[in-house]
Amino acid sequence: MPESRCLQGIWSSPWIFIFAASGSAVGLGNIWKFPYVLGQNGGGAFLLVYCLCLLLVGLPVLVAEVALGRTVRSNPVDTVNDLSERRIVHKAWVIVPWLAGITGFLILTFYSVIAGWSIGYLERAISGDFQQITQAGAIAMFKGLLANPSEMLLWHSVFMALVVLTVGQSVTRGLSALVRILLPALVISLLGLSAYSMTVGDMSKTLEFMFGWSWQDITFDVVLAAVGMALFSLSVGMGAMFAYGAYMSKRMSITRACGIVVGVDLLVAILAGLLIFPLVFSFQIDVEAGPSLTFVSLPIIFGGLPGGQFFASVFFALLVIAALTSAISMLELFVAWLHEKFYIARLKAALLMGIAVWFIGIAVLLSFNHWDSKILFGLNFFELLDELTSLILLPVVAILLSILVAWFIPRTMLQNEMITKQISHFEWWYGTLKYISIPAMMVITVAGWIGV
Ligand code: PHE
Repeated sequence: MPESRCLQGIWSSPWIFIFAASGSAVGLGNIWKFPYVLGQNGGGAFLLVYCLCLLLVGLPVLVAEVALGRTVRSNPVDTVNDLSERRIVHKAWVIVPWLAGITGFLILTFYSVIAGWSIGYLERAISGDFQQITQAGAIAMFKGLLANPSEMLLWHSVFMALVVLTVGQSVTRGLSALVRILLPALVISLLGLSAYSMTVGDMSKTLEFMFGWSWQDITFDVVLAAVGMALFSLSVGMGAMFAYGAYMSKRMSITRACGIVVGVDLLVAILAGLLIFPLVFSFQIDVEAGPSLTFVSLPIIFGGLPGGQFFASVFFALLVIAALTSAISMLELFVAWLHEKFYIARLKAALLMGIAVWFIGIAVLLSFNHWDSKILFGLNFFELLDELTSLILLPVVAILLSILVAWFIPRTMLQNEMITKQISHFEWWYGTLKYISIPAMMVITVAGWIGV
């Protein structure tokens, strides 16, 4: 198949796929969500299970998504339509890309609000508001932001405007340059900051908490949280990687590329943990504090750091860009589809989708203040969206997509898609997906629903 077939273009070099996919994977999930989920699930035991989940569930499903995208080189919806026209799979499977797109869309409605918090913190960092901040001051600052819907609306709107403008361009062009600078800069700043945080904070407690574990800490809830976190963090189960796979050069080995993405994603998450927890322990912040953990600890870290105003500004700018490179991948599926199917210009398609996300986002940001009433199952609107996507939609799409690839797409077709020299990689992936990832995801998800 000629490389030029994809309407959205091809990543200009095989490595750009790795950067773009890592840009999608590395985001608020690593820096905001991972530390607090780790905190809520007991530390080391969670990290251990999480690593296993990345290897046995996340990586195989990621490879499946990318491979499926690359086979047809079209947007995910048309990829499945094309396969059904060629009588390879039944047309009912088109439900999978649809559900995937809806999941990405719904995640973006709250992701954008939280990315907005990061922009709010960038503004505070630039104004020097973190200087010598106390713990009580940091808590009050975060609470103040949550209690101020107009400020949240402003940042949510700014972030969505950035998403629409970026995704409105071809992702294969602008994005690559952005991520090539962002990722190394983010890793370097996390390395430096976590080293600093460990010297001023409680390093021994942090290492004990993050890397120490015992068998009785591995509960079912920990496993459930780890699977959900692995899917979210690798951006699988919502079509983002499916779409990016379509732009991937045939010269690149999918397993190798995806292996690198998983490694980068894990590295950033661990560095975020090493940055946040030393302070959490030395200030006796509650490790189970939840979504506020990162936003309360970071100002304290920067507040005491010489040159903190500068470092904080750089760090939050990087965080916003990391969130942006993740957010655009959530809209890519529908934007590419609208563009290819109805010839709507990418910018227009992005605007249509962006406005819809923006509207729902308003309800999300109000659920932190004026509208914090529990609407269903004792959850407010934000919590409901979070649980609906991470506990139901993400795993369901990941399971269906994996079944489609492992059991319905002919093995030879997949084998041709992978680079044949690495036959052992193929065997490992195919066997793990079929016999470990799919059954594990099914058991864990269903058991989670019935509350085992
Ligand atoms: N993986 C991203 C993160 O960790 C979140 C994301 C979810 C991105 C779904 C794309 C699609 O922040």
